[in-house]
This record gives sequence, C-alpha cells and structure tokens, in this order.
Amino acid sequence: MNTKSAVIILIIAVALLAISLLTKSPPPPYQDARHFVDIRIEDLLGRMTREEKIGQLALVSKDGLEKKKDIIKYGLGGLLSGGGAKPDPNTPTAWRKMVQQFQNYARRSRLSIPILYGIDAVHGHANVPGATIFPHNIGLAATRDSDLVRRIGAITAQEMAATGIYWNFAPSVDVAHDQRWGRIYETFGSDTELVTDLSTAYLEGLQSTSPSVLGTVKHYLGTGDMLWNSSQNSDFSIDQGMIVANETTLRSVHLPPYISAIDAGAKSIMVSHAQWHNTEFAASHYWLTEVLKNELGYDGFVVSDWGGVNELEMNTYESTVIAINAGIDMMMLPFDYKTFTLHMQQALDSGDISEERLNDAVQRILRAKFTIGLFDSKARDLPPLHILGSGEHRLIAREAVRKSVVVLKDESQTLPLSKSASQILVSGSIADNLGYQSGGWTIEWQGVDGNSLAGTTILQAIRSNVAEENQVEYSLDGNFADRETLADIGIAVVGEAPYAEGWGDNAYPSLTPGDLVAIEKTRAASKKLVVIIVSGRPLDITPYAHNWDAVIAAWLPGTEGLGITDVLFGDYPFSGTLPVEWPI
Ligand code: BGC
Ligand code: BGC
Repeated sequence: MNTKSAVIILIIAVALLAISLLTKSPPPPYQDARHFVDIRIEDLLGRMTREEKIGQLALVSKDGLEKKKDIIKYGLGGLLSGGGAKPDPNTPTAWRKMVQQFQNYARRSRLSIPILYGIDAVHGHANVPGATIFPHNIGLAATRDSDLVRRIGAITAQEMAATGIYWNFAPSVDVAHDQRWGRIYETFGSDTELVTDLSTAYLEGLQSTSPSVLGTVKHYLGTGDMLWNSSQNSDFSIDQGMIVANETTLRSVHLPPYISAIDAGAKSIMVSHAQWHNTEFAASHYWLTEVLKNELGYDGFVVSDWGGVNELEMNTYESTVIAINAGIDMMMLPFDYKTFTLHMQQALDSGDISEERLNDAVQRILRAKFTIGLFDSKARDLPPLHILGSGEHRLIAREAVRKSVVVLKDESQTLPLSKSASQILVSGSIADNLGYQSGGWTIEWQGVDGNSLAGTTILQAIRSNVAEENQVEYSLDGNFADRETLADIGIAVVGEAPYAEGWGDNAYPSLTPGDLVAIEKTRAASKKLVVIIVSGRPLDITPYAHNWDAVIAAWLPGTEGLGITDVLFGDYPFSGTLPVEWPI
C-alpha cells in the first residue's frame, strides 16, 4: 500500500467515524443530567406505561423477592433490607455485590429506571459488620452538637454508598414523651427544638455527600405521643398505638421537625403505624395530602411503614385504595407485590384510583431518584469499601460517645477517676459486651449479644487507660476474689439488653435483679462506687442509688467504648446534658 492509498483510507475512516457520531441519537432528556429535574421527570413519565408506573409505587423486602427478574417484570420502584435482612455471607463485599446485582436488573428494564434500595442505617450503617457504629440518637441528643451530628450523617452516607445503598430510613424526628416506649432511643429526645435542630443537621449531612443519600424523615406524625396500652399489635403495649395529642399539639410539638426537614430538601417521609381519632395516619387524606403536600408544599414522596397499609382494612384492595388516595406514594408492602399490582390495575380500571393520582405518586418518587443523582451515578462512583469503619470514622464515633455521657450524680467529687488507683473492680452485664453496648438495629433487628463486632468494650477501655493490667479485676456478677482491704474504685456497668420497636415497650424500665446484685457486691468491695448505665432510656434507679457515689448515663454508645473512658478518667470534661427527663 502506497502513501496515497493509506491517506485515502484514513480519510474514509475519519469520515465514517464522524458520520456515526453525528447520527447517533442523543440520550433522551431524562437520561441527560444537563436537564432540569422537572424536565427529566416529565420526559420519563411520558414514556412510561401504566404497568411501569404501578411498579414504581412498590417497595419490596429483598427477602420477599421471588425472582430477581421480577425487578424487571414488575418495574419495582424500591427494595429494602428490614432490620437484619442481610446477604449470605454477611460481609461488606457481599452487601455491595447483592445491591449492585439488584440495581443491574433494574437498569436492564425497558427504561432503565434505577431502584431505591432502603435500609435502617439509624446509628451508622450498622447492619453491616465492620461499619462504624455511632451512639443511638438519644445519646447524640445529649451532645447537643449539631455540627457533630451533621458529620455523623455524612459518614453514614459514605459508608452506605460504599455498599451501593442510597436510601436511609433515618432520621427519626419523633418527639418522645414516654420512657416506656421501646423506640425512645431512636429519637433525639423530648424537646421539639432539639429534635428539629439535630434531625435537620443529620439529614443535611446524609444528603451532603456525592453521590448523596436520601434521608427519610419518620414517623409522621406525633408518634412520640401514643397512649400506653393502646397498641393495635397484641405483642406490643404502646408502639403502633393511639396518638392522644390534639391537633394544636401535633402542629406545635410534632410538626416543626418536618417543616425544617422539608426546607432542608427532604424528599422521603415515612408514615407511622399509629392512629389518630381512630384513623390510621396512612389513611389520613387530611394529614398526608392537605397538610403535608398542600399546606407545607412537600414535593417528595410519602412511604408507608412495614406492612402498614395492609393493616388498614381486612381487605387489602380497600386498604390500597384508601392509602393511595390519602396520599401514600410508595408502599412498603413489603412482600406481596403481585397482588398489589393486580389491585392497582383494578383500582385504575374502575376509577377507584385516578390516573392523575398515580402520575402524581410516580413523579414524586422519580423526583427523589433524580435529586440524589441515582440516574446519573455509575458503579465506579462508589466509595471504596475500606472506608467502612475506618480509623478516621471511628474517631468521630468516639467523639460522639464522649460528648454524650451525662453525669446523673457525683457525690464527694468521685469523678473523674484517677488512672493510678491501685485497684479497680469492674462488674455488670454490659461491662464486656459490645452487642449490648450498641443496642437494637445492630446487625440484627433486635441487636446482638457478645463481642462479635469490631470495637472496644467499656472493660477493655478501662484496662487500656490504667498503668498496669493487674490493677483491674473483672467479674460480670461482682463475685470478686476475697481481699483484705477495699478496692479504691468499683465500676458497675449495667443496663438494658438490646431491643427494637414494640419489643422494647416496658411498663417499668429499671435494672435487672442480676445487675442489682452485681452492683451490691461491687459496692461492698470498693471504697467508691461508680455506676455506668447503658440504656436506651431513663431507668428508674431512685430506689437503689442512695449509696452509689457517682452515676453516669452512657445511653447506647455503640462500639467505641474509649469515648466513655475519655471522660471517666478526665482526659476530657463531661459535657453531655439530658435530652429527656431522668429523675434520680
Ligand atoms: C419501622 C421503621 C423501619 C421499617 C423498615 C418498620 O417496622 O417502624 O422505622 O424503617 O420497619 O425496617
Ligand atoms: C424487620 C424490621 C421491621 C419489622 C416490622 C422485621 O422483620 O426486620 O425491619 O421493622 O419486621 O415488624
């Protein structure tokens, strides 16, 4: 081949390339991130069939998915892991692979609409082993540090994104008024202003990262004000019960965190299981549509709680119609998506649900998906898995623990303790138990027992703070070796075993007989006694605390026990203040 023909071939090749580039159709507007979200929504909605629209309304438990191909067949809008719904093996890599696999199915659907994958990362991405586990919200509330809470939101978002998950069922903005309620630790306490401040900061943190994570403000509305013994769930006492607050209180005490979250860009709000005036919130057109969407101008979507809609009426067709017409946009079914699809078709055919309502629900869900960049994110955008539980993240968790500790009592200046005390006795059911230290919503829905998590127990933290290993003697039950003189210090680490939701409803939250015996024995063997209470709520200790020198509330601190000893031994001052009442 001479130079002339080589040049001709080159020219032809370049021309062909140019033609192919020019004739290649541009992506449709909804696939093109340069367009405004409203334009993308309108474009996509115009391309969707009725079946594809119905699918967007369905939120299905990953364990309820019969076949992965159903993601395509039914065009599902979302999947979720309920508490403890994990891949096998439960490793960060397996989480990432599992969620990406679901996402790949969604992307292979006709219009390639990504799914939202939801999870309760309510104190860090705590379903995933190795993730950073922060104190539960009640402890964060004691810090009163909104900047810290914002950073925690951002770290949680990064750790979630590393596993391919962009939707968090947090923050809870319930303003809690009853310490018997099993969900009080999921709240930022009983003060509306504090709840509003911290939950907004958390949401901002979650949504600040790139790619950003969609927060869910829950549980709408007034769930902190339910009546004891009013639960509709026969296993529970107050959770899923009746709300006693009147409309004025609902608006002045419970609505402000939602208003603030909407201002901060909330696009997902979860409705509670509770009832008001004998109507489920999920059936309340007034609260969902008139107040939330019309009056407050909320343009995101409303998601129902776990199976919450089926409980409305005996007949699931009826409850679907009632809930969708009331203003629920996405249904946490969480299992039977096939019946839901049929019912929706039937309701649209009969006119029980209008096409307009369907379109409105779909555009709200799409808005959330576009806003967080779900259509535009690529697998290569995922942060690396090694950021999960990184040293840097754990230091923030430790800072949160240290700032959350509240001194309930300190007589004769027992605190802070001296690191050179010659003998320290440690006892109690929670002294050496990371699972108990972390509470519910940790690996499992109801939490775990023992030291399988990565972290530092309070006992280990005490040991690492003193000069010599043999200064510290540990016995869970307080059965210490006989000694001639009293030990300088006794530390009993006591409190509640983990629980979640209504399983934690408790008519009389206090200490267990086993812990009380451990405290007594430790008291008898030491000059000074410090009691550390690890609990999701205030415990009644007034009958017992008179002969304890110091008492501190550590809430549910998570895995970073060193945060407790940071203040216990005086490296940092105690600064936590009570976010709920705790008589002592
Ligand atoms: C809880 C929600 C939670 C959802 C998904 C429900 O039972 O009330 O707070 O986000 O389950 O796990
Ligand atoms: C799930 C939780 C959910 C609960 C509702 C559990 O099986 O794991 O996430 O909140 O059911 O009852």
